[in-house]
This record gives sequence, C-alpha cells and structure tokens, in this order.
Amino acid sequence: MTELLVRRLLIDLEQPVERHWCNGDAFLSAWFNALSMSFPVGEQFFIDSVRNGFKALPAEQQDQRRDEVQGFIGQEATHRRIHALFNAQIQKHGLVNEWEPRARERLRLVEGTDLRHGLAITAANEHFTALFAEWMLSHARLLDGCEPRLQALWLWHSAEEAEHKCTAFDLYQALGGSHAWRVKWMRRVTWIFLSDTLRQTANNLRRDGTLWRWSTWRSAVRHLLGREGLLRLSYRPWRAYFRPDFHPAQQSSDLSANWLRENARLFTPVSAP
Ligand SMILES: [Fe+2]
Ligand SMILES: [Fe+2]
Repeated sequence: MTELLVRRLLIDLEQPVERHWCNGDAFLSAWFNALSMSFPVGEQFFIDSVRNGFKALPAEQQDQRRDEVQGFIGQEATHRRIHALFNAQIQKHGLVNEWEPRARERLRLVEGTDLRHGLAITAANEHFTALFAEWMLSHARLLDGCEPRLQALWLWHSAEEAEHKCTAFDLYQALGGSHAWRVKWMRRVTWIFLSDTLRQTANNLRRDGTLWRWSTWRSAVRHLLGREGLLRLSYRPWRAYFRPDFHPAQQSSDLSANWLRENARLFTPVSAP
C-alpha cells in the first residue's frame, strides 16, 4: 500500500492571476488553463469511483486499503478545491469553461453501470495525469519565471498525481476488472482527453485573441511535439498501459518524492477526511 499524505498548499489564490501567467507564453498558459478547467469535475468523478470501488471490497481488503483510499480522496479533494479557485481567476480574463459541462454530460452515461467502468476510466485518466506529472516535474524549468505560487500549484499537483497513481488501478484489479475493459477504456479516454484538451486550449486562445499568432503555434509544436515535447516523450509510457502485465508502479516516481521532500515548506499536512 502507498502511504498518501494529504497536504494543504500554502498559497493565496484570491489574488489575480496574469493573463499569460506562464512566462508570457500564450500557448502554455492556455494549455495549462484548459487542463485546470477539467480538474474540478474530473477529480470529483475519480473520488466517487474510488469510494464506490472501496465500498465493494470485502471487509478484510477494506482494512488493508482504507488509509490509501482516504489519502487518495483527500489529495484529489484538495486539488479540485484549489483548481476551482485558480479557474475563478482565469475566468476573469473572459475564458469560458466549455469542457466541464461536456464532461458532466458524458460521465452521466456511466452512472448506474458496473462500478468497474468508473474505476477503469479513473485508472486511465490517472495514467495520463501521471505521464503529465512526470513531464512537468522533469521540465520544471518551463515554470522558472512564473509567480512562485503558480509554480507551487502545478508542481505540487504533479507530485501528488505521481504519488497516488496506483490507487485506482489497484482497486480495479482487486475487484477483478479485466484487461480487455482496461485497455478499451484507455483507448476511449485517450481520444476524449486529447480532443477535449486541444478543443479547450483552442477555445482559450481564441477568446484571448492569440489563436492565430505565429508565436502561439511555434510554442505548441515545440512543447507538444518537439524533442522535449509532452506528447513525444509520453508516447512510450502511454503505450506501456496496453501490456497485460502493466502496473503504474513500473514507471518511476522519484522526481515526485524528491520534489515533495525538498518543498515541504510550501504545505502543511492535514488529516484525511
Ligand atoms: Fe489531482
Ligand atoms: Fe489523481
């Protein structure tokens, strides 16, 4: 079992956030903003799926997993609260979250179905966030010139995503979830997640008036497809999920543990709910 500490991040998100808060880069700001817009609804779904999965376990397995599940729920609940504050700031720039209502509609489709569907969707999304986290923590220099509170927000969230990446996956396995459904959901989630992220990013850029700037597209190509780009570097670890013997723990989380150790001054531990 992984020990998951719930941390309260000591940053103030009542203060305004600059329009191009990510080093003046319109593309990166819009891309991160799009991801943040998906978090409150997505993370609530992950919490509900993990909670439902946990309740379906036999009593002795619940005892073994209780602390980890409470830690997972506490971490995701903290993320969704803090990203809601961040989202309220970026919406003051005229951005509109069109992802959230679409995601809400779609998630309604799995309500009342076998609870392993919710867990497989959560595990697939958690694999995505773990890949993003690894890329973020290994390219933390992208945030070097940003306000310290926003650097802390993105790196703390990344570190905790890497830290709890096994929880939903392990519950799915413990409840007898099949490989066939696990990879089927990964294929669907990949398509939905990438298309939603790109759609909301383009939407943010359009409302920002920077969609058709050369510098925006140059940044997009560089940070997604370039030598150090997110999509390029994540392709292999993403594919690994389709192997029958895949487990999230096979992919390193050292950067996460190091970051949390070195930045302990940025948060206080809180007890899980
Ligand atoms: Fe999260
Ligand atoms: Fe997560």
